[in-house]
Parts: sequence; structure tokens; C-alpha cells
Amino acid sequence: MPTFEVRTPLKTYPVIVERGAIQQVAQSFPAKAGRAFVVTTRDLWALHGAKLEEALDNGGRRAEVLFFPGQEVNKRLEPVERLAEQMVELGADRTSIVIGFGGGIVTDVAGFLAAIFMRGIPVIQVPTTLLAQVDAAVGGKTGVNLVNGKNLIGSFHQPLAVLIDPDLVATLPEREFRAGLYEVIKCGVIRDAGIFNLCATEPRAVMAMQPALVDELIAGAVRIKCEVVSADEREGGLRRILNFGHTIGHAIEAETEYKRFLHGEAVAWGMIAATHLAVLTDKLSEAEAGVIVRTIEEYGSLPPANDLDPDRLLARLSSDKKTLQGTVHFVLPIRVGDAIVVPGVEQRLIRQAMLAGLADARPGGEGH
Ligand code: GLY
Repeated sequence: MPTFEVRTPLKTYPVIVERGAIQQVAQSFPAKAGRAFVVTTRDLWALHGAKLEEALDNGGRRAEVLFFPGQEVNKRLEPVERLAEQMVELGADRTSIVIGFGGGIVTDVAGFLAAIFMRGIPVIQVPTTLLAQVDAAVGGKTGVNLVNGKNLIGSFHQPLAVLIDPDLVATLPEREFRAGLYEVIKCGVIRDAGIFNLCATEPRAVMAMQPALVDELIAGAVRIKCEVVSADEREGGLRRILNFGHTIGHAIEAETEYKRFLHGEAVAWGMIAATHLAVLTDKLSEAEAGVIVRTIEEYGSLPPANDLDPDRLLARLSSDKKTLQGTVHFVLPIRVGDAIVVPGVEQRLIRQAMLAGLADARPGGEGH
């Protein structure tokens, strides 16, 4: 399976997609690394910790294990401070490294901890959920939430390496797997009709986690992520397309206090609403919009969003990171496989798209 590369002005690093990639963790250490600290959750460690320990052992390395409580609602500054204090107590210094071992919340937190600990130490990301493998752990975005909004405190901190082991995804609860698939569908809509069509035409095989298909989807999405981040690390241009579905998705997460939706689920609602908005702004044909919305719905089981007040969501858009000088920017598909960033969309149309999109509650595809 493939190794991709993220090339940024300051750092180039490998993103290895391979069954068994976790075995390469020790080789990814810098030559003069001091102590290593795994940031993970207790649940994940009980499930897969032995594999990581074995991989470290085989490579002649060891690590302290630090537990983060997990869940979006805990992705706050305070737990990061606690992790840093534990590192100090355990003798960490500037030669120490962090290993993020978990889903997107863990890799965001581990990356942020590494970014700020003693002004920055290296991090190796070993994502264990589909969502973290195809999106969160690749590209160096790290951070935590504020009550006001998602990921409002953070830093770009590129990892030393990202080890993506599709074997780890096999133990994911179905809900988590679906949440990751929405990010894969996102990649398809914004940049690769082939990936989108695979999701659109093979939902049964995808939900059955057929290994060859899962590998193809992960590799396809990771390739896109690496290309986009390499072209635009700091989200000055192209990288903004990765935010398809995230503008409204982040507002939905904050509005529901990070409790009702997994990140991927909120993004799925955001993508449905943004697809309606693309039609309302004459960027996308109704026929293509129908295909996008139906494919998202095919993967079904989204917690409902039709009780959310569009005016409250609208108000939240203004504190999103993607709002620049008071102007909300939307990523809108113009066809399957291509998207553009559109500034200055009328509030009236955003409201209308949210009303239509979030009421579009017909979850009920595979797995029901
Ligand atoms: N999750 C979007 C990005 O990494 O830019």
C-alpha cells in the first residue's frame, strides 16, 4: 500500500497507509529522541495498546502512557494543561516526543500538546479511527474547542510521521465508522469523483468494511489530503476546500455543546445544507445536488438536526475561524469532484439552505 508525503515549507513527512503500519512507530522516532509519551484514551488503550507497546518494544523503544478522557466535550485547554503537567512530573524535556494514538479528538489534543510543550516538541500520529486516518491526523492542524466555537485555540504543528493502519478501523463501532465515511465522501465531492462514486455505488460493501474497499477509500482520501496540504499548508487558498460541510457543521457542534453529534455527523449535515446552498446560489445543478444528498443519506443514521434554530446557527457562523472580516465563506460544490470557495453569500440564502438541509432528515440507508 502507498506511502504519501506532505511537503510543507518547513517539513516533509511520510503518511504511511498500510495494514500493520503501527509496527513502524519506533522507526519514526528522531535519532536522538528522549522520552516518549503516548496520549490516548483508556478505552482505546485497552483495545489496541498492546499492539503499540509491542511495536515500540520491537524497535527498542518505550513510552509513558498518558490518558485523555476523550470526547469532543473534553477537547478543552484544561486537560491539555494536565497532560503537560504529567509530562513534567515524568521527566519530559525538549528531547521528548509525543505519540497521538486515538481518534481525531486525541490526535488534535496530542498534536496541540506537542506544539506548545516547551514551545514545541515532535509528535508522531497513529490515528485509530477512520475520521482521524482520512482527515484529522494528517496536515498538522491541532487544537481545542472553546464554548464559543470549535478549534478556536490551536496551532499548525506538522507531525514527524503519520502511521495509518487500516486494521485498526475493524474494531470501530458502526457509528464511528460512518462518521469517518462522511469525511471520505467530502473528499470525493470536493476533488475526486472516483472516490465519490465508489461511496455512492457500493454502500453495502463499504459498510461491511470489505478490506480492499476500505483500503482504497482511505488511500484515496489520504492522497487528496496530502496533495491539498502540500499545496497550501496554512489554509490561505486551496486548503479551504477541505472545509466543505464544516462551516455549518462546526456551528451545529457548538450549538449542541459538542454532545449530540460526532464531528463527522455534524459535517454530514453541514454538507447537506451547503449542497442546498450551492443550488440556491446557482453553482450546482439540482440533479448533482440530489446525487450528493442521497449518497450522504444512504449512509444514514444521523442524529436529527431539524430542531436546531437556523438563526442561532447563523449567529454562530460569525465566530467560526472561516469567517474573515465579518464575511462567512462557504465551500460549495460546483459538480461532483470540484468545489469552490464563495464569500459573501446572502444570509437569507444560508438560512433557507439550513432550513431545507437540516429538515432533510431521511436517514435510512445501509445498516438500518
Ligand atoms: N480538516 C480540514 C483540514 O485539515 O484542513
